[in-house]
Amino acid sequence: STYALILAGGSGQRFWPVSRDRLPKQLLRLFDDKSMLEHTIHRLDGLVPRENILILTNQQQLEGVREALPDFPAENIIAEPVKRDTAPAIALAVGWVAARDPQATMMVLPSDHLIKDVAAFQRTLRTACAAAEGSSALVTIGIKPNWACPSYGYVERGEPYVSAENAGIPVYEVVRFREKPSAELAEQFLAQGNFTWNAGMFFWKIDTVRKNLDAHCPELGAFVTALEQCTDFAATVEQQFPTLPKVSIDYALMEKAPRVLNVEAAFDWDDVGNWTSVGHYLSADVAGNQHNCTVSGMDSSGNLVYSQTGQHIALLGVHDLMVISTGDALLVAHRSQAESLKKLVDGLPTEL
Ligand code: GDD
Ligand code: MG
Repeated sequence: STYALILAGGSGQRFWPVSRDRLPKQLLRLFDDKSMLEHTIHRLDGLVPRENILILTNQQQLEGVREALPDFPAENIIAEPVKRDTAPAIALAVGWVAARDPQATMMVLPSDHLIKDVAAFQRTLRTACAAAEGSSALVTIGIKPNWACPSYGYVERGEPYVSAENAGIPVYEVVRFREKPSAELAEQFLAQGNFTWNAGMFFWKIDTVRKNLDAHCPELGAFVTALEQCTDFAATVEQQFPTLPKVSIDYALMEKAPRVLNVEAAFDWDDVGNWTSVGHYLSADVAGNQHNCTVSGMDSSGNLVYSQTGQHIALLGVHDLMVISTGDALLVAHRSQAESLKKLVDGLPTEL
């Protein structure tokens, strides 16, 4: 059977003041009346039964996640005892699935991406699962890159992987997986043409991922075995998880695995990394001020104006600013600083 892990433990510092420690990006309703986490679950309707979906988050966000998902089985929402990045979280989920069905196929999905074409998304996922089942490879999804973004993983494609179950979607052998290259290297990759962005979604058979973990991250492999054999899952997690290395799956496993496949995404994709990405989805006035509320502007252009409470915001003689307002906080920043917001928020008092 098919299982899914939804990773919902990231922080959302780049969306302050709308996001907070307890209200990360995946719980925000940035675009409509559903959070990105709710959309992530709904996108799996008809593909993975809810009881086979595990949501992993952290202690601080557990309550918020459970509240946001009243219809989701509460025992399938687990909080990691400490933050250890994605590799230990994924190992925890591999153990959770292995204890249920060692023959299973499993997918790993982020909870904070914007994807609109659900049918195309599901077709791509079916192809990825079929490739994982038919090949004993770790399977990734490739997004056509449109700039040399250094904060993604890059997948170098080789020969086509041909199978009757590709459903018309191209699949390739992967020559090399490169997580977050330097800006110069990313430029080279783009110029070379045979690189795609890694969508951050992974597909594998349980025995395939276990063999790879045993070979390349033995600590994580041993953790999976402990979870599979233990009688008290929660206690084993509590004891062993804090001893695991803090590392993402991209560095821990994907860069090292000998056989990786890459499925071409048939769907639209945006990982909505900061306020600049949100701006693309808002309406804009003739002066290019993007807004989700009423804006009166004079001699003002290129601003991003977002109010959580539907305020009326007036602009006079300002350009290329982000003006982000909630009931209790206001951010005024230059748009070029969207990525640096994280640093500012790191220095704020924790009650904010
Ligand atoms: N449960 C849990 N625990 N989830 C986590 C943790 C954790 O400790 N850390 C991060 N996550 C979640 C995030 O909420 C997000 O949904 C997902 O895991 C990926 O983590 P990010 O921190 O957002 O990773 P990234 O964006 O730097 O890089 C990854 O995604 C890119 C595409 O968006 C990599 O896989 C890149 O290769 C990829 O291009
Ligand atoms: Mg991300």
